[in-house]
Amino acid sequence: MNTPDQPHRIGRRLFIGGTGAAVGAGLFAAGFAPAGRPAAADPTPRWRPLVHFTPERNWMNDPNGLVHLDGEFHQFFQYNPGGKDHADMHWGHSVSTDLVHWEERPVALEPDELGEVYSGGAVVDHDDDSGFFDGGPGLIAFYTSAGDEQVQSLAHSDDSGRSWTMYEGNPVIGNPGIEDFRDPKVVWHADSGAWVLMLAADDRILFYRSSDLREWEEVSGFGPGHGAHGGVWECPELFELPVDGDDRNTRWVLVVSINPGGPAGGSAVQYFVGDFDGWGFTPHDPPEQTLWADGGSDFYAVQSWSDVPEEDGRRMWTGWMSNWDYAEDVPTDPWRGAMSLPREVGLTETADGIRLTQMPVAEIEGARTGHEHWEGELVEDGEGPAFTGTSLDVELEADPGSASVVGLEVLTGQDCRTLVGVDLDAGELFVDRTEHGSVEVTEGFRARHTMRLEDGDGPVRLRVVVDRSTVEVFGGRGQAVITDLVLPDADADALRPYAEGGTAHVTSLDVHGLG
Ligand code: FRU
Repeated sequence: MNTPDQPHRIGRRLFIGGTGAAVGAGLFAAGFAPAGRPAAADPTPRWRPLVHFTPERNWMNDPNGLVHLDGEFHQFFQYNPGGKDHADMHWGHSVSTDLVHWEERPVALEPDELGEVYSGGAVVDHDDDSGFFDGGPGLIAFYTSAGDEQVQSLAHSDDSGRSWTMYEGNPVIGNPGIEDFRDPKVVWHADSGAWVLMLAADDRILFYRSSDLREWEEVSGFGPGHGAHGGVWECPELFELPVDGDDRNTRWVLVVSINPGGPAGGSAVQYFVGDFDGWGFTPHDPPEQTLWADGGSDFYAVQSWSDVPEEDGRRMWTGWMSNWDYAEDVPTDPWRGAMSLPREVGLTETADGIRLTQMPVAEIEGARTGHEHWEGELVEDGEGPAFTGTSLDVELEADPGSASVVGLEVLTGQDCRTLVGVDLDAGELFVDRTEHGSVEVTEGFRARHTMRLEDGDGPVRLRVVVDRSTVEVFGGRGQAVITDLVLPDADADALRPYAEGGTAHVTSLDVHGLG
């Protein structure tokens, strides 16, 4: 059984060098095991997130085939059923009706004579354009067959993703002589009445069109000279969003994962805001502009759910919480790899231009288990309130006053802590995991990650979700986000707000347990 975290305030007392360990012991003694499995199966239970998807065991990377059908959110993923390293890629499968509780299903796609099953997307073929479904609807998954060369293949399912047939006509797109040629994502482009497939080809995204989802015609490319090129481009994603909720003012967002060359080192996600006419993408920002979706180290290969019902209307995505710089060194056991929280994505007009916003989907609030509220003055080096819990959803609003930093110490123990907050002088959101825990992952893991956060002179607003080994920080309206893995010590269960450089007035601090 899951052991929900109940936050409890433990008085006005500092934790650094304090007695956090004793308070935390009970929680960890209770352990955690996903439903139906004994706690003993988890050699590192203290790092198993409660509200983030992790596979029961073995290696996971990118989210794949995110699609909604008949009230179920499908989340396939890059998976090695035989070990904890990136090898022998299959598509694992998990299903949820609320984006919070995930049920892991049997492996969906296995390697065949064309190779391993690399990343890709899925769509609902509502009207049976493909002819696979006797009138439809059915699911089609597009993926890269990674053998001697990378080619694009498809598989179809007429039983809501429970079983799959690999198409005998695979590959549907052959390799044109490009080594890195992968990660097909398909969208329906209503205005031009066609299916559009995009894939990553070395330093660019190629676009294809089709009417039957089987035959694809290449129509354009986008990439060279635009954005960041510190590494190979991977995992494209494309969608249209209203700006500040105005349906008459929309933009297309092209999302590209890049490895290496990210702002925190290694892999990261960049995006472009512009127009898409069904054939090609035209960015609105200058070519030299690079926009990062996340300033942290552990948000990669993000993909959004296809076919979310119109009455829902949200664009939601999730990313792999790791980094190719050290993914195979993360010491969790018997699993390796976690998904970010599903997040709702939006666009907002800022002084710099139109930018992406992200916030955890509202469903996460349904996983809250208890609540503490505090308000008051935070003085540099003074005592603030302290809370306990290792899976917490925190909302902070503060008038920074004379303070230059307003933040939270999270997952704090005797000898470890992670700092998150806003540096007002620098105009930055930050996560500092330099002292996250005693475990060494790789050189460079101990670092401070930042993302520009210009939010005018208004209050500091932070939403912080910590979940045992995951930290996600959303600044302002979510226009700055930092996602980082941490590996805290066994006693690291304290959280407290702090200020530097002066006195801040916390107008509200709400600490919710998650379970
Ligand atoms: C991104 C990626 C994809 C590839 C998959 C292989 O993390 O490298 O480009 O399809 O992982 O597992």
